[in-house]
Amino acid sequence: MKRVLITGGAGFIAHHLIYYLIKKTSWDIVSLDRLDYSGNLNRLDSILSSLTQEQKSRVKIVYHDLKSEINPWIKKEIGDVDIILHLAAGSHVDRSIDYPMEFVLDNVVGTANILEFARQVNKSKKLERFIYFSTDEVFGPAPKGVDYKENDRYNSTNPYSATKAGGEELAVAYENTYNLPVYITHTMNVFGERQHPEKFIPMCIKKIRDGESVTIHSDKTKQIPGSRHYIHAEDVAEAIYFILTKKLQNEIDYGGAKCPKFNIVGSEELNNLELAQMIAKSQNKDLKYEMVDFHSSRPGHDLRYSLSGEKMKKLGWEPSIKLTKRIKQVVEWSLNNQNWIEL
Ligand SMILES: NC(=O)c1ccc[n+]([C@@H]2O[C@H](COP(=O)([O-])OP(=O)(O)OC[C@H]3O[C@@H](n4cnc5c(N)ncnc54)[C@H](O)[C@@H]3O)[C@@H](O)[C@H]2O)c1
Repeated sequence: MKRVLITGGAGFIAHHLIYYLIKKTSWDIVSLDRLDYSGNLNRLDSILSSLTQEQKSRVKIVYHDLKSEINPWIKKEIGDVDIILHLAAGSHVDRSIDYPMEFVLDNVVGTANILEFARQVNKSKKLERFIYFSTDEVFGPAPKGVDYKENDRYNSTNPYSATKAGGEELAVAYENTYNLPVYITHTMNVFGERQHPEKFIPMCIKKIRDGESVTIHSDKTKQIPGSRHYIHAEDVAEAIYFILTKKLQNEIDYGGAKCPKFNIVGSEELNNLELAQMIAKSQNKDLKYEMVDFHSSRPGHDLRYSLSGEKMKKLGWEPSIKLTKRIKQVVEWSLNNQNWIEL
């Protein structure tokens, strides 16, 4: 029986990942989180309530802030682990612009602490895998027609992406220096049930429900809306399970340095206006909106991010459910569980 440590387990993506792995496998899961303003144990409570007693008994919750090292006491609480999935991070870009040092401590120092823990585990027994959850934002803005590949250059435009790139480079160094079996994933904009109400999709669902106007970030001319490849959190969980269980061929050697990276990308690129229209249609409502030049309203934000999902496709994975269906699913769920879209 495998035991998996998931950091940031009370966070948005990680709680979907826990749900997916508990249902899909017989693995034990340890969730580690320090419950900041974006962590919410009610997420876990909500998903666990639909599981059987046996499934619930396979989830353990540990409280710890990764700004501090994992001391012997916390180590004992975590127990023996085979796989570590590191998702804990400050994740709100606007907040990183206001409090950059907080992000350095959580995303760089926090990553160093979990890597050190992993290094110790790997000394006493072979760790099967360490996955570092990185983001498309490390590549910076993508001009029209450009989809960044896994090993393209980085170009952070805000402290969030810079600290995620910093944590990522530490993870790569731990693979190359200490033979820690690291994978890096770059994920694009994730959405789904129980996402923080400040994020675009839940905020948009609520505003459209209330007949309010939705702000659409655009270029300077207020004609071209920002665009992303959105992906549902369950699809991300499926992709993670895929790379954890698939036997992968040897990677290209980048001048002696190794560490496989995988872009996990939604099936379609959508601009924010099309997305808001899709959400309005799912509620049978008209969309009221205002285009706002994002450069003046949100410095540090980028108009377009884009990753190539070709590598994962070649390996045999791509999202199986269409984006329109996923959006409809989340809109319906949110309207039936309205406390999750209110702050
Ligand atoms: N949401 C996205 O669209 C997206 C896209 C790409 C990558 N990612 C990455 O995926 C991961 C999860 O993102 P999310 O949207 O679920 O974030 P989230 O903000 O919902 O969850 C992050 C969790 O980490 C915890 N945490 C933060 N700092 C901690 C620390 N020092 N010690 C212990 N726990 C700490 C928080 O309490 C929270 O529960 C992050 O690493 C993020 O950078 C997210």
